[in-house]
Amino acid sequence: MTGKIIVTGSMNMDMVVKTSHIPQPGETVLGGTFFMNPGGKGANQAVAVARLGGEVAFIGKIGDDIFGKQSSQLFDEEGVDTLGILSDAENPSGIALITVDQLGENSIVVAPGANANLEPDDVEQAFSLYPDGKILLIQLEIPMRTVEFAARYAQGKGMTVILNPAPANDLIPELFSLIDIITPNVNEAEVLSGVKITDITSAKEAAESLHKQGVKNVIITLGKLGAALLEEGVFYHIPAPEVETVDTTAAGDVFNGALAVAVAEGRSLKDAASFACRAAAIAVTRLGAQSSIPYRNEVLFSSMA
Ligand code: RIB
Repeated sequence: MTGKIIVTGSMNMDMVVKTSHIPQPGETVLGGTFFMNPGGKGANQAVAVARLGGEVAFIGKIGDDIFGKQSSQLFDEEGVDTLGILSDAENPSGIALITVDQLGENSIVVAPGANANLEPDDVEQAFSLYPDGKILLIQLEIPMRTVEFAARYAQGKGMTVILNPAPANDLIPELFSLIDIITPNVNEAEVLSGVKITDITSAKEAAESLHKQGVKNVIITLGKLGAALLEEGVFYHIPAPEVETVDTTAAGDVFNGALAVAVAEGRSLKDAASFACRAAAIAVTRLGAQSSIPYRNEVLFSSMA
């Protein structure tokens, strides 16, 4: 046993269409086949932890509807502990409308529904179920007051706090000192640091700016270029395997889930980031969010290793 990873965040049902290109304002595009699969940044990260070999519990809120039921059912099948999932009688489950273009790039609009009602009290109650929690993995698709509460609570319990600051948001400065590892993508890192990222050198500058603002460790995910890791001020570039991209949806979530698993196992941040890059590279070769998440044996024994 390596210790429980508690993922606190959103659960959505993803409604996906592949198109030749992402529509411009005012444009209608005839797309391909429509499909639905469970998503939400929090839920994707929890399923990634489970498939990649971690012990995981989820704290979140769903509506009393078919989408919430389907997402929780998938959690049960994957071995995610669902005791911390609350049902909201007044709001529907979260929904994400996703368009994926020919190059695998996506555009996403989220209707948060019940996710927007996950309150600090809910989280406090759920945390009490898991006194053995070792890592908190959290994102920004739930209210900021809840994110701050969870991070403060977890830090107070001596847990490692990993914040995936997605979707992009100006973080309140008080949050930085509560985070052990922050994992923005390029867009999120630019918003947080004010540095334009065009290559590995500028990614290093952005990471250094976040470190100066008080975050211990920074990992900026760079897509095909891998990741930029600044571990307590020391910089490493972690390369990613070359793959054929089908859909980048949830690649960041797989990265974060994998990172949490490897950190829980006591691996170095360099090894953890490398494991995470390899897991995310597999995810981009497949369509969808939770449908694209690899299992541990695929990553460890992947020919891309
Ligand atoms: O990171 C991908 C996720 O973002 C999708 O599953 C969607 O639900 C949105 O939360």
